[in-house]
Amino acid sequence: SAAEKGGYDYFMLKEIAEQPKAVADTLLGRIDAAGSLTLDEVRISASELREVDKVVIVACGTAFHAGMIAKYAIEHWTRIPCEVELASEFRYRDPILDARSLVIAISQSGETMDTLMALRHAREQGSKVLAICNTNGSTIPRESDAVLYTHAGPEVAVASTKAFLTQLVACYLVALYLGQVRGTKWGDEIGAVIRDLSQISGAVERVLETMEPVRELARTLAHKNTVLFLGRHVGYPVALEGALKLKELAYMHAEGFAAGELKHGPIALIEDDLPVVVVVPSPRGRSVLHDKIVSNIQEIRARGARTIVIAEEGDEAVVPYADHLIRIPVTPTLLQPLVATVPLQVFACELATARGNEVDQPRNLAKSVTVE
Ligand code: AGP
Repeated sequence: SAAEKGGYDYFMLKEIAEQPKAVADTLLGRIDAAGSLTLDEVRISASELREVDKVVIVACGTAFHAGMIAKYAIEHWTRIPCEVELASEFRYRDPILDARSLVIAISQSGETMDTLMALRHAREQGSKVLAICNTNGSTIPRESDAVLYTHAGPEVAVASTKAFLTQLVACYLVALYLGQVRGTKWGDEIGAVIRDLSQISGAVERVLETMEPVRELARTLAHKNTVLFLGRHVGYPVALEGALKLKELAYMHAEGFAAGELKHGPIALIEDDLPVVVVVPSPRGRSVLHDKIVSNIQEIRARGARTIVIAEEGDEAVVPYADHLIRIPVTPTLLQPLVATVPLQVFACELATARGNEVDQPRNLAKSVTVE
């Protein structure tokens, strides 16, 4: 009913709007007054976490994209090798795990069959499993050694939005916590990032306030067949997530690429007026990443692409090459997905509406895939 949707036309719009609160709620009570993380609810002891020599993340779909981003954060802040794999692939291989491996299973519903089977497989090898989950008492956390709940609240729309942002927050918390208990050389940086994370909900709010041009742009592209998405570093999984949203909602051909792969094939797809969304990393962080992507934007534009550039406020280098420019707030590099994903959700939702699609219940999809 309209009341359930809180005055929005679709649950998806309501859930996109709820993201600042979902992010804040997921942080609530997990950072103490001294700015340290308190994840006592994760019932894996600090000494067990100090023993971990490998992290393996398993998930499906959007949750897998959160896992891909987590890998960058975990390896950077903890120096523990981290793999991330689709649960449906992991469970049918012969992955090398033991008691010192920490397996993280990410799932909004807690009922995804492939993710459940992957965690059972991991526990059989003696690994500890930590679930990141949005649904209290669901099967995946019940069968795990420990759980860190995301506090997104119920997500009704099939296309995941607020659950994704809270999965990212939970992944950052786990990465920072691992760094904290193991005392890495990034100690100072970890403190600073915890402070940035506690401000990030306001940044998500600011993005939501500036989405009208994104909706307008989506409406003008409703007749297109293909949209490409490019990113580097944590912007690469964001590109994949933008493409997944567009497939499920707009039923358009959409693909995400690592921008560095362009010359290895995808650049052949570029043709006149093809919309290409580019997620630009902060120019302040690792500037080499930023410079590389600016030249990627030049390259595709020279071949006719219509460039839709998502870049930080104050990033002037992209201006000459952006046919459309979407601004996002300044954030630390690793946290950028929390703000960069939001315009892509709004874009896909508006394209679905413009194409007359059912936003909350896309064809052929179920909210939770409980079969194999
Ligand atoms: C997201 O928009 C999708 N509908 C889908 O990829 C989803 O993220 C995936 O099925 C995993 O679900 P889970 O988080 O409930 O395990």
